[in-house]
Amino acid sequence: MSRVAYVNGVYQPHGQAVIHVEDRGFQFADGVYEVWSVFEGRLADFDGHLTRLKRSLTELKIDIPMSDGALSRVLAETIRRNRVRTGIVYLQVTRGTASRDHAFPRDVAPSVVVTARTIDLNKGEALARTGAAGVTQPDIRWGRCDIKTVGLLPNVLAKQAAREKGAYECLMFDEMGLVTEGSSTNAWIVDEHGKLRTRDAQANILKGITRMALMKLAESEGIELEERAFTVEEAKRAREVFVTAASSFVMPLVSLDGARIGDGRPGPIATRLRDVYLEQARREAI
Ligand code: PDD
Repeated sequence: MSRVAYVNGVYQPHGQAVIHVEDRGFQFADGVYEVWSVFEGRLADFDGHLTRLKRSLTELKIDIPMSDGALSRVLAETIRRNRVRTGIVYLQVTRGTASRDHAFPRDVAPSVVVTARTIDLNKGEALARTGAAGVTQPDIRWGRCDIKTVGLLPNVLAKQAAREKGAYECLMFDEMGLVTEGSSTNAWIVDEHGKLRTRDAQANILKGITRMALMKLAESEGIELEERAFTVEEAKRAREVFVTAASSFVMPLVSLDGARIGDGRPGPIATRLRDVYLEQARREAI
């Protein structure tokens, strides 16, 4: 089936959808993005991602390109034209096109791109049932990882390092050996004392929308949570390790750098949180 992309106001065949060679996203990674998961053709956590998008744009002084209503219509129309029932929608907003100069150009309109694609949820579901492998490596990113920019080269290298070792995700760690987050996920453990922990988002990490949803769900499930960073060693000794993102929901990691986590199977807390997250995301998608 032919795919369609939205580019600056026009729906185009995916294969022919293009952005100018002097788009600042292309030259400087001067732009931001969001990823929503789609259930039954509807967006999960719409407001959370929208709020973070506007924050990212504001932090970088990029104009908000359209109203919330208009954006919601573009996302819905892109989903519809691509006939996506379950999958993801990707939105990218860059500062726009201007002749190359590091400083912000005057009077440019942001570039807006939206794509949508179908994802077979059964594959992720099967992996979540067996659990995935993780690796670790130093976090070499900049100091504003709270902004969801398209400048993802360190994340790309981290994910590739995972892939080359046959792993699903790479957890990155800071100079103190504390895990920051995954290359495209937030990281969690159930530590050796049974306490659910994830790193404080005031630190230099992305405040995941799935992370926020899970924090509320943990509370309603009566699972006590501590927002406190953990080391790679603590993760290796943990009863459970898992990662969260719009694209993977809650994914248990059953090994880290080859060391078995817990009994080598997805633990009860990750499994429960995945179930209740998916149930809620499906129910509340709009
Ligand atoms: N990644 N941390 C990083 C570095 C991320 O890139 C992501 C999301 C997350 C989780 O955020 P959320 O729960 O809001 O999806 C954490 C998206 C899915 C991506 O880059 O494709």
